[in-house]
Amino acid sequence: QSQGVDPAKLAAARAAVAMVEDGMRLGLGTGSTAAIMVRELAARVAAEGLTLRCAATSRATAELAESLGLRIETLDQIGWLDLTIDGADEVDPHLHLVKGGGAAHLREKVVAAASDRMVVVADPAKVVETLGAFPLPVEVLEFGFETTRKLIRRALEAQDLGECDVLQRLRGSDPVITDEGNLILDLHLARIEDPVALARALSAIPGVVEHGLFLGMCDLAIIGREDGSVIELA
Ligand code: A5P
Repeated sequence: QSQGVDPAKLAAARAAVAMVEDGMRLGLGTGSTAAIMVRELAARVAAEGLTLRCAATSRATAELAESLGLRIETLDQIGWLDLTIDGADEVDPHLHLVKGGGAAHLREKVVAAASDRMVVVADPAKVVETLGAFPLPVEVLEFGFETTRKLIRRALEAQDLGECDVLQRLRGSDPVITDEGNLILDLHLARIEDPVALARALSAIPGVVEHGLFLGMCDLAIIGREDGSVIELA
């Protein structure tokens, strides 16, 4: 089953799934590493008969989990979660994250905010000194889309982030539409020196639904390595 799976991602996923205890209420993340984690979790549930309650951070994850026999409930049905396990696009030494490479960061943030603990599973390529090399995803309303883009550009200038590309995410020539029916702008910033200030400025723009900066939300990052070992950042 694990043939062809990235060994670093698998190592991180396995270590996170080992933290799951019978009776837990879990948030299931989105992306390729989270998908490996969901497969490992389903295997543990099948082998050990664990009773879990699971909420998914995207339609894609819900479909995957259900196809593997995990029952998915809505976040509101469960109410509160003990643990969310999710991937990330970047992790810095403060455990600040960039997420949203899979356009799921809005639901991911709602789920992480409703969890006692958020554990990130990632491969070493995600670990950075300074966030920003990965373009920062921002979910925006379709209404007033170009105006919101202008306001984002203005906010970036005010932060001295200079001339940055603010590009609509497309799949082929079609706009990417999120699970919540919104659009994505990717902010090509190169370096985010002050993520707290940038998060505040983006959140202040009404057409911005949610940005991909996760600050102070991640409790533990499990970084898998090619040889199957893991490093824990906390
Ligand atoms: C989804 O929107 C993202 O936040 C993912 O968690 C992130 O892109 C990590 O995905 P991979 O595990 O595929 O790199």
